[in-house]
Amino acid sequence: MAKEIIFLILFFLSCSIHISLANQNYQSFLHCLYNNIQSSEGNSDIIYTPSNSNYTSFYLSSIRNLRFVNSATTKPLLIIAPTNVSHVQASVVCARENGFSIRARSGGHDYEGLSYREVDNSRRFVIVDLANLREIDVDVTRGTAWVQAGATVGELYYKISIKTNLYGFPAGICPTVGIGGHISGGGFGTMLRKYGLASDNVLDALLVDANGDLLHKDPMGEDLFWAIRGGGGTSYGIVVSWKVKLVPVPPIVTVFTINRVTKEGAIDLMSKWQSIAPRLHEDLLIRIVAQQIYEGGERQVQAGFNALFLGECVQLVELMETDFPELGMQRQDCKEMSWIESALYFAFYTSDISKEALLDRGTEPYRYFKAKSDFVKEPIQKSALEKVLSHLLDDYAGVIIMDPYGAKMDNISDTATPFPHRKGNLYNIQYFTEWTQNDTTTYKKRMTWIRNIYDEMEPYVSTNPRAAYINYRDLDLGINELVGAIASYDKGKIWGEKYFKGNFEKLALVKARVDPFDFFWNEQSVPPLFAGHTLLSFF
Ligand SMILES: Cc1cc2nc3c(=O)[nH]c(=O)nc-3n(C[C@H](O)[C@H](O)[C@H](O)COP(=O)(O)OP(=O)(O)OC[C@H]3O[C@@H](n4cnc5c(N)ncnc54)[C@H](O)[C@@H]3O)c2cc1C
Ligand SMILES: *[C@@H]1O[C@H](CO)[C@@H](O)[C@H](O)[C@H]1NC(C)=O
Ligand SMILES: *[C@@H]1O[C@H](CO)[C@@H](O)[C@H](O)[C@H]1NC(C)=O
Ligand SMILES: *[C@@H]1O[C@H](CO)[C@@H](O)[C@H](O)[C@H]1NC(C)=O
Ligand SMILES: *[C@@H]1O[C@H](CO)[C@@H](O)[C@H](O)[C@H]1NC(C)=O
Repeated sequence: MAKEIIFLILFFLSCSIHISLANQNYQSFLHCLYNNIQSSEGNSDIIYTPSNSNYTSFYLSSIRNLRFVNSATTKPLLIIAPTNVSHVQASVVCARENGFSIRARSGGHDYEGLSYREVDNSRRFVIVDLANLREIDVDVTRGTAWVQAGATVGELYYKISIKTNLYGFPAGICPTVGIGGHISGGGFGTMLRKYGLASDNVLDALLVDANGDLLHKDPMGEDLFWAIRGGGGTSYGIVVSWKVKLVPVPPIVTVFTINRVTKEGAIDLMSKWQSIAPRLHEDLLIRIVAQQIYEGGERQVQAGFNALFLGECVQLVELMETDFPELGMQRQDCKEMSWIESALYFAFYTSDISKEALLDRGTEPYRYFKAKSDFVKEPIQKSALEKVLSHLLDDYAGVIIMDPYGAKMDNISDTATPFPHRKGNLYNIQYFTEWTQNDTTTYKKRMTWIRNIYDEMEPYVSTNPRAAYINYRDLDLGINELVGAIASYDKGKIWGEKYFKGNFEKLALVKARVDPFDFFWNEQSVPPLFAGHTLLSFF
């Protein structure tokens, strides 16, 4: 009995010591920030403590997934919204000195919310939100642009378009996606087959590393510059801006959307598409969005064939007649427009809105979602497609999006950047399910649906490893396990090789060089691999 009381007393003592130490660190952290971050308007618009009346709305402003908006999700101790690159550096230095961890957030689109939450609430963390660092400087003469990380893909497209119609940029389809996270993980959209990924078109970057140093490409070192272009956000530091190469686009491009339901041969067309789409002319991308529609009193599978052609209708019709006559594409399916209008078309399924719509960043989340991804290397037999796609008719189903690779993607080596899914991949699949009701039944049914269809697809997709796309982050693939305070490389390989295949080892070696103490950690950050030395040799 006495023993237990002593134990309890000791326990409470050690707790309170712990708490007061933590408070001390918090005070000293705040102190450090206030000393290093100066703003003419005071600091309340840069440092958001929970007592700031704008803390919650700012926290929610770029969250996209309601799955992580609930009382079980621990909020950050602070949100820092730098307005100057030096604030990012100060955040890193102050957080590290005082034992706090950082989540960097650019557009907040992370599928698993890792830019604003911790899965098991194990570390005390703050968010460095780059939304106010979003200058875009387009240099038309050189065909380049510097883009700060907090800008969105839509803002970049818009800023290019108000300066020139000669250039575009090959990034994602959704305009609200943040440049910071997007390019860090690759980034692809409608010009993928002609120009590759967004990260394939990066010329330089500015990175704040774990020491708080601001590095350009050269002092960064070739290996680190390699790692940040596709190795996924977080692991190596905070990117504050990218210098990108703009790509030439013609004054007129053509888009079409052709929808076919099962009765109109949708599955047969999808089956043929698998070998046709990756071999089409590089100027032509035809993606598929397959989903359930309710028509004529029944549920049917509909395949939407959604295309961008970097040229005019006449040529497109010719190409389609030669290469994919089965789709029955005709002149009247063509919509000719400028490249920037095509960005609107893919984002909103109409180009009849003002291009300022690309600047809308949204203000808060409005739906729950879960996604998973695959790569396909051999066409899937029609009978198998039929069987799997029938799940689109289930209650609580989702959509399946197929993006064709080939052309330029076949012509970039697997090791040129961390993104390894190049030659030999016919297309990428994204499984996606979303809902708006806040109830556990819906949640469970949706999650079960997507996990089941993923399991069923196993025999038909890439193996050893079953590959996945880091920007479609999926924590079902595995998460980091800590050994002491540092993520284990061996455990990390389980999820890491799915995203990066053979490049994972190099990513981990670079990590050990630039962030040996794993300051930039999250559930799927690259763990350090110490080759030939142990961490002890750093002391
Ligand atoms: C609706 C929607 C549509 C999408 N469409 C596409 C698409 O067409 N094509 C495509 O390829 N992808 C698409 N994506 C996926 C998207 O590319 C990734 O979610 C991407 O990582 C989002 O970047 P972000 O800056 O918005 O996200 P964030 O959530 O801010 O960040 C994502 C990850 O990167 C880290 N990070 C963020 N900023 C930085 C930084 N500056 N430096 C270092 N690390 C950072 C975060 O900590 C987090 O781990 C889409 C996502 C959504 C939600
Ligand atoms: C909150 O935001 C509003 C609107 O931007 C601003 O007027 C107000 O000063 C902010 N409050 C604080 C405490 O910063
Ligand atoms: C959903 O419901 C739960 C439990 O009632 C609640 O904690 C949570 O805040 C709700 N989420 C939203 C986004 O309304
Ligand atoms: C950003 O910070 C640097 C270093 O403190 C300073 O020299 C510069 O003037 C600041 N820029 C702006 C726009 O405030
Ligand atoms: C592939 O790349 C090589 C060298 O960069 C280039 O010469 C060739 O034209 C490219 N082929 C295609 C199909 O893009």
